[in-house]
Amino acid sequence: MGDLTFDYSMADAFVSEQELENLQTKVDLAHELLESGQGPGSEYAGWLNWPETYDRAEFARVKEVAATIREKADVFVVIGIGGSYLGARSALSLLTHAFSNQLPRDKRGGPEIYFAGQNVSPDYLTQLLDIVGDRELYINVVSKSGTTLEPALAFRVFRRLLEERYGREGAGRRIIATTDREKGALKKLADEEGYETFVVPDEVGGRYSVLTPVGLLPIAVGGIDLDAVMAGAADAQRLYKVKELGNNPAYRYAAVRNLLYNKGKTVELLATYEPSFSYFTEWWKQLFGESEGKENKGIFPAGVNFTTDLHSLGQYIQDGYRHLFTTTVWVDKPAADMTIIDEEGNPDGLNYLTGKSLHEVNLRAREGTMLAHTEGSVPNLLISVPEISPYWYGRMVYYFEKACGISGYLLGVNPFDQPGVEAYKKNMFRLLGKM
Ligand code: PA5
Repeated sequence: MGDLTFDYSMADAFVSEQELENLQTKVDLAHELLESGQGPGSEYAGWLNWPETYDRAEFARVKEVAATIREKADVFVVIGIGGSYLGARSALSLLTHAFSNQLPRDKRGGPEIYFAGQNVSPDYLTQLLDIVGDRELYINVVSKSGTTLEPALAFRVFRRLLEERYGREGAGRRIIATTDREKGALKKLADEEGYETFVVPDEVGGRYSVLTPVGLLPIAVGGIDLDAVMAGAADAQRLYKVKELGNNPAYRYAAVRNLLYNKGKTVELLATYEPSFSYFTEWWKQLFGESEGKENKGIFPAGVNFTTDLHSLGQYIQDGYRHLFTTTVWVDKPAADMTIIDEEGNPDGLNYLTGKSLHEVNLRAREGTMLAHTEGSVPNLLISVPEISPYWYGRMVYYFEKACGISGYLLGVNPFDQPGVEAYKKNMFRLLGKM
């Protein structure tokens, strides 16, 4: 089946084997903090054993509700922001057809899927309503607190649309709320109106919640095999539990980025060569940014999609300020490939590529880029996965979550809180005159 591998040989000018070995004692401590549940923020570390402990009955209900939505809805709108949004979007982008919403329905096998509530743009909402039109609509509003402004506003708009169209009861059958088990404005409304509800577990923080109903319901509506996703996560839980750096690629990644950070490499670029990774990168940015960026510390997580961004950010990465390192996520075998065919007369000069596959060209682009960046004093880390599939999605999610928890403890911060997120909200509410 292949494996997920982590390779830091193209960062060896910055990180030595010895330095990594010397970090083992600190890694042991971080491991103990996380696994014993004694570390800062551990009340939100329920994701750690989630692939084992998740509620099977609720999981089955997620599948049932998703099957109904797949059968009945023309359009499904997922409303949420941050940790209540990025996980589902990352999976759907990675695992469904790049032009899924434009495919004929019978090819897609379910509704078109859109997202709302992740901004307050009137243009975005208006244009989304245009797309929905008068087609059969189901919505999933995802908000732990139930009071986050962006999704609450979008939900108000969509709830009104559904109620005007189908009446309160009909609307109630088409609204699924994923929220707190017992408190909050959304939970109260859901109970009063009789919405189908799913729980955002107290012990799993937003950015770690994709494998709970927060992510799983939209993922299942996209026709993705949830059992395979959870199997990937369960294998990852088992494999990335060992504390020896030599046997744990998640811990090695955490340790190497910690060493690079301490040598002034304060920006990490997650580089991918498949556009379908763009929202996975957004999910990863939130995971590491919110977990580590506190107390005036932390690596700034950024993302690039290659080769696209080599034609925009490539210059900076190669020659600009030397505070960067890249982490490339590479897929060994794409789902589809194409062979370049010979053209008579070679009018475009590309016949030297005859017989090669696009994947091979992509691979040479990656190798050439990593070599150039190494020569330009940019350390390169490489994470390879065998393929893009539900199983490997689950494996990667847990891999990065585990690496992030360890990395946060190595940095000396609480990787499970996000006190800084409140600052903009306080100002915004004051400016809006909220009592
Ligand atoms: O990671 C987090 O905690 C945040 O990104 C939240 O998920 C986000 O702010 C949305 O919060 P809520 O689910 O309460 O609407």
